[in-house]
Amino acid sequence: MDLAIALDNHIDVPLHQQLYEEIRKAILNGRLLPNQRIPSTRKLSKSLGISRTTVTTCYEQLFSEGYIRTIIGSGTYVCTQLPDDLLHSAPIESIQKSALGQSSLSEYAASLIKNDVLINTEPQASINFRYGRPAFELFPMQLWRKLLSRHCRSDCHWLNYATDALGYERLREAIARYLSQSRAVQCEPEQVMITNGTQQALYLVMRLLINPGDAIALEDPGYLSARRIFLAQGAKLLPVPVDESGLIVRELENYRGEHIKLIYVTPSHQFPTGAILSLSRRLELLAWAHSHQAMIIEDDYDSEYRYGDRPIPALQGLDKSDCVLYMGTFSKVLFPSLRIGYLVLPKILVPIFARAKWLSDKHLPLLEQYVLTDFIEEGHLERHIRKMRKHYDHCRQVLVQALSDRFGERITILGEKAGLHLMVKLQTQLTDEEIIQGAASLGVGMMSAQSQYLKGNVTGEFIFGYSELTQQQIQEGIYRLAKILVA
Ligand SMILES: Cc1ncc(COP(=O)(O)O)c(C=O)c1O
Repeated sequence: MDLAIALDNHIDVPLHQQLYEEIRKAILNGRLLPNQRIPSTRKLSKSLGISRTTVTTCYEQLFSEGYIRTIIGSGTYVCTQLPDDLLHSAPIESIQKSALGQSSLSEYAASLIKNDVLINTEPQASINFRYGRPAFELFPMQLWRKLLSRHCRSDCHWLNYATDALGYERLREAIARYLSQSRAVQCEPEQVMITNGTQQALYLVMRLLINPGDAIALEDPGYLSARRIFLAQGAKLLPVPVDESGLIVRELENYRGEHIKLIYVTPSHQFPTGAILSLSRRLELLAWAHSHQAMIIEDDYDSEYRYGDRPIPALQGLDKSDCVLYMGTFSKVLFPSLRIGYLVLPKILVPIFARAKWLSDKHLPLLEQYVLTDFIEEGHLERHIRKMRKHYDHCRQVLVQALSDRFGERITILGEKAGLHLMVKLQTQLTDEEIIQGAASLGVGMMSAQSQYLKGNVTGEFIFGYSELTQQQIQEGIYRLAKILVA
């Protein structure tokens, strides 16, 4: 088979590099299939009219990165199992070396490349303890369909552009009421902006409040996606340790020489340790932010799920000096592809955020905003949360019991009082990689907490999501894990 490959002698990129990028692209986009034979170095050099050394150099690189393999006496083939992250991450760093990258990429693009901002890969397994997804099969689909068709049947003005960058007014009113009742957030609907999830809320905060080099203090361990957004903006990250009461506020004093512009926290359910920021720490943090002219990002991503303890009011509701940017999401209570979250802003910041939002995407789809408004106003959200809280509480108890039964003293369970996941510290001689591989071989997906840490090389800590699993799956999954860990 001939490979049609365009090489350009006039650009400043060596031929072997151009060839490498073309073949790699062909593998990643499926033009070359797994197990497909590719031409020999001799044949390819002849058909492209380039030296054999050029082709050999390129093949060596593809070989060392796991794209191709050689079978002695048979030929060269595309590998059958490409590493998952290669398939997801497209050749991001190779663009920088290309002619396009050298002449056209912005500083922001360069920082995305430098900071390795990849799409997460996740374990694939029949029993998957991945975190962060609600139980999809318990979503009230029939009701959602009814609300959708109600709006499709009645009027059609949701087909037009919206006129308000903050989002659909009735939805903002409904969210303001909901937050005031359930989280003691104090806001007017005019302070609520509907965002494309927490992700966009964080992105907008970065664009409007942070310049490259500005310092952001953040929980360590903490939410990796937030960290990536901060890094992409060129922020300087200052990790602050957490304990069983959440962020250790006095540790901020270690950065006395820095002007900390923002502090990112997940106070209702610290991600990933699950610690709940105590009331005294909340007040201490607010006082610290006020006296150091820092703003706080309060990411309240799953506070709807609390098991037992009374809720502590949101930082935003305790704040007297307008220094909190409060954000939440419907990704956990409804479903993540809805892509609806909210950002509650100090009044003074509303106009500038509205302008940036409009420039970024004008607004979110109106149909989903209408449906969600009905869902909240008619009491379905409250009922759904009540039902799901019961369900997750049961899953959580099954998981805690199974872990305690199988591992006893060898583990410490953290943060099981809220949310959709808990964290486990294991006493083991095995590396995280060995545990993950061993679990995968038994059909169990596990996630190490290692990548959530900014500082130090912490091992033996795992995040266990339980929201997508049945009682039987949880028990079976832990039983299989014990085979590896207790052996
Ligand atoms: C700490 C934290 N914040 C926010 C989110 C949700 O983000 P989004 O609203 O963009 O789906 C998650 C999802 O797992 C999370 O772990």
